[in-house]
Amino acid sequence: MTNYQYNSISHRIVLTSIMTSHFSTSMMATYILAIGIFLFILYTIFSRQKLPRNIPRIPIWVTIYDTYYGTSRVNFYNRYVRDQAEKHGAVIIWHLGRWSVHITKPEYLMQMFRDEASFAKGGSYMKVPWGVLGQLFGQNVIDSTGHIWKQQRNILLPAIKRQFNIAYMKQKSSELRAILWQDRETQDKDCTIGINIEDHVQHWALSICCKYFMGINLESVPDIDNRLTRVLTARKKRFMGGITMLFPTLQRFPWLFPSDRRAFRLVKEFEEIVVEIGKLGPDSESDTDDNTIKGRLNSARRDGDISEFQYRSNMKQLLLAGFEDIESVLLSALVIIAKNPVIQSTLHAELASLVPTTYSLEDLDRLPVLLTVILETFRLYPPFPSLTNRYTTQDTLLGDNINLPAGTWVGWNAYAVQTDARIWGSDALKFRPSRWGEDIDSINAMFRAQQAKAVFIPFSTRSRTCLGVSFTLMQLKIVLYELLNELEWGICNDGAPTLRQIYPQGKIAPNSPMTAKRFNNFRGR
Ligand code: HEM
Repeated sequence: MTNYQYNSISHRIVLTSIMTSHFSTSMMATYILAIGIFLFILYTIFSRQKLPRNIPRIPIWVTIYDTYYGTSRVNFYNRYVRDQAEKHGAVIIWHLGRWSVHITKPEYLMQMFRDEASFAKGGSYMKVPWGVLGQLFGQNVIDSTGHIWKQQRNILLPAIKRQFNIAYMKQKSSELRAILWQDRETQDKDCTIGINIEDHVQHWALSICCKYFMGINLESVPDIDNRLTRVLTARKKRFMGGITMLFPTLQRFPWLFPSDRRAFRLVKEFEEIVVEIGKLGPDSESDTDDNTIKGRLNSARRDGDISEFQYRSNMKQLLLAGFEDIESVLLSALVIIAKNPVIQSTLHAELASLVPTTYSLEDLDRLPVLLTVILETFRLYPPFPSLTNRYTTQDTLLGDNINLPAGTWVGWNAYAVQTDARIWGSDALKFRPSRWGEDIDSINAMFRAQQAKAVFIPFSTRSRTCLGVSFTLMQLKIVLYELLNELEWGICNDGAPTLRQIYPQGKIAPNSPMTAKRFNNFRGR
């Protein structure tokens, strides 16, 4: 063997052994880390947490499995929870790092909604202030309790419950129809993707929210428009859960989880955009600045009524609250209308015969079929199927015999009561708008009664009812009028829509590629 050959072989041996030792060190570190995480998870699951013993517990493995596969909360409920929940009225479920008691019986729900002192509101920031959701939502009106809630509510209420000029809403909704129609012309021939509804509906909802609540016209600030749209679209994918949402303590180590790093970056970016929006002056044809959410929050911060942290938390929370849920209900309504041609033609007939071309909100408020289609969509596809955002402030007896120790997190399930056959009849899972009544007064009366009985709670109920109910109904009525005007919606290949989680926090919508064609009989055109 020559000297050169010998040197080269020994060089390779040294190199290989260095690489092997480096490889095994990093492998070893990975193994140790994985075992550490596993032991930590076991410790978290089995660490002592006082819980009622007389209601069933859904095994955590089921939750882990479904989170991994991205199962929607509705499918999770139907598969594993419904039977137990309907029998016991409450079950224990793993949520955001702890066992929580999940209520489904209307009497228990009424007790919870009535007794704010024992069942206080609390949100992600209280549970996991360091986590992605804690950082996103902070201390805002929806998650607060006591005097902080009252103070923030007083600031925001005049901006959300006021008279709105509907001209811009009409304009954006008729533009949405034109865009979707245009998109339909380029849609794939075999109709596997259909019209690209989701992105356009998101932008429609966002533009309206920005105009009415933030006092800005997105079209006049294209840079903000682009960045906001990009961040919000990415949020749909990046916040979907995963192991660190189940065990949020792991989010303290974002360097371990690239998806968390990306999610934290998105939250930061979103906050920066929202702060920029806060600094923009009111757009010229908009309402005056002091009656928008942005204007009122700006004044409250300037006057020292809220802190910078509360300001940012509310700006982020309300920008999301003002558009995401409306977006998801419209997506649900469109698919469900397309899937039910008889309901669609009844709607067409009602809109064509009863609404003048230059309609007002009062004209739309008189339409029974339109309202029942909207309510029925909320019943079967509530944007918040379930929420776990209350905790007991003291040892509390739920009903006659469920002992909740102080500090127990409590969830409530709108989807459960809204699809319970004992309340809504044997066709509870069927889309049947006529169940709400025939004339507008009895439909509205039923809406109020079911909400008061806590069996129809897409907007929650009692003192913590959503402030945006009227705004939401107005926006949905206008957009459905505009989208059904001249167009007839269909489902590609007549397939059955699947239920899909379109947003984090469990927001769902039936999903199906869609088609549209011109409907020439509308007003005899
Ligand atoms: C489809 C539309 C909407 C749905 C389904 C919806 C649903 C809800 C729900 C379930 C709550 C109670 C949350 C809880 O208990 O933690 C709530 C509260 C709230 N919503 Fe909405 N919302 C919608 C639209 C809006 C809009 C457009 C706004 C306007 C910015 C808004 C503003 C609020 C506010 C301020 C609260 C807190 C009320 C309080 O605690 O005093 N919502 N909403």
